[in-house]
Amino acid sequence: MKSTLFLAAAALALAGTVQAQALDGAKLYTEKTCVACHGKDGTKPLTPEYPKVAGQNAKYAERQMLDIKSGARANGNTAAMKGVMHLVSDAEIKALAEYLSKLKP
Ligand code: HEC
Repeated sequence: MKSTLFLAAAALALAGTVQAQALDGAKLYTEKTCVACHGKDGTKPLTPEYPKVAGQNAKYAERQMLDIKSGARANGNTAAMKGVMHLVSDAEIKALAEYLSKLKP
């Protein structure tokens, strides 16, 4: 019984690590609907008022997304973006920011 518990705990710990490493920015970008508004490769936003996000500084993009999510950043255009921010965790935001920073503007 004890060893079964230990195995279960080890499996859980392993699953946690795998999940943390498996955050794939490119996949998240499509899965979390980002592509719908910011366009393929972050270069073709849905409307001219939406920002191009390709090649953006990763730290900056992460901060903007966290601020939009928390409500610290709120202007005329923020509502559209804020509406989907419940779909992403802080860790996913970081992975997305890193992915965006590597795209060609
Ligand atoms: C419904 C449309 C929509 C969706 C979906 C959307 N965004 Fe946005 N996004 C916007 C708009 C509009 C802004 C500008 C917000 C503002 O002006 O405050 C923005 C802002 C941003 C910014 C900040 C840009 C800057 O230069 O400050 C980043 C980074 C970003 N989005 C990435 C993402 C990612 C990653 C996703 C997917 C999780 C996503 N967006 C989903 C519309 C959207």
